[in-house]
Amino acid sequence: MQNNSNLNKTIQYNGNKFMQEHYLYNLNIFINQEVIDKFHGVKYVCMQGSGDRAKALAQKLAKVTLGIEETYFTPQNLFKTAKFEVFRVGNILSVSHGMGTISIMNLLDDITKLMKASGNTDLEYIRIGTSGGINIAPGSVVVTDTAYKPDLTTGYPMTILGKEIIFPTQMDASLNERIIKAQPEIEQFNLYRGNSITADDFYLGQCRFDGAIKPRYDENMRQKYFKKIMALNIYNFEMESTAIASFCSRANISASMIAVTLIDRLNGDQVTATAEELDNFADRAHTVAINYLLSQIA
Ligand code: URA
Repeated sequence: MQNNSNLNKTIQYNGNKFMQEHYLYNLNIFINQEVIDKFHGVKYVCMQGSGDRAKALAQKLAKVTLGIEETYFTPQNLFKTAKFEVFRVGNILSVSHGMGTISIMNLLDDITKLMKASGNTDLEYIRIGTSGGINIAPGSVVVTDTAYKPDLTTGYPMTILGKEIIFPTQMDASLNERIIKAQPEIEQFNLYRGNSITADDFYLGQCRFDGAIKPRYDENMRQKYFKKIMALNIYNFEMESTAIASFCSRANISASMIAVTLIDRLNGDQVTATAEELDNFADRAHTVAINYLLSQIA
């Protein structure tokens, strides 16, 4: 229910003032008292590409934190008409971010306005994703320290007022330490802490040969690039980490990425794992995130 007494009040954060009913375009909601009540008290924002994965995580979280059996509970998407889906379990939000830096960047701005307007200032953002591994077994999980650009320098470039600005892309080292510390000594898969590359796309940007258009590079050139990547302790290609790392460092929010690898790119381009194997791999990234979340909220 709308609390009319609040309609003319302003919401303040980060030196900005927002009228109640400030519109969050990418979430297709207005900030009002009902929305603030719905989102107050959130600390952890977990982000994944698809709405289905965000929902699956919410279902698991409901089971491990509240004991609610998955068969009896379907998480409700709180953004019914938005480009993104969001599910809440206790102080955790599980949100979809779509694909690529531009998609996640739009989510990050609006979800952060929503969090701050709801009075949530102590925040941790974790992207839980899939990736293409580099010289590690498929199914390994990587916790990212620094997000690299495809030219193998760090930073996230944005062109602002006609000028390129490069924002830093370090994840929060202490959050990463807590994530690693929360894992059991013996796990069924390999866990690495290292760096990641945010590619511009799945094909050319990740030096594949199986895109729609024949690339100009050859295998020899690609191998040289892979060697440089490995020398930088980079374990995987994906498409969002520079955006989340740079946004969160600007917004003063702790951030990390936990991504499972679906393939070892030294051995090929095509992701050939079966749907079941892919689900199993994706569950591993969930496991690492859930171990961490449980260590914090238990
Ligand atoms: N996601 C990517 O960006 N690359 C892969 O190879 C697999 C998943």
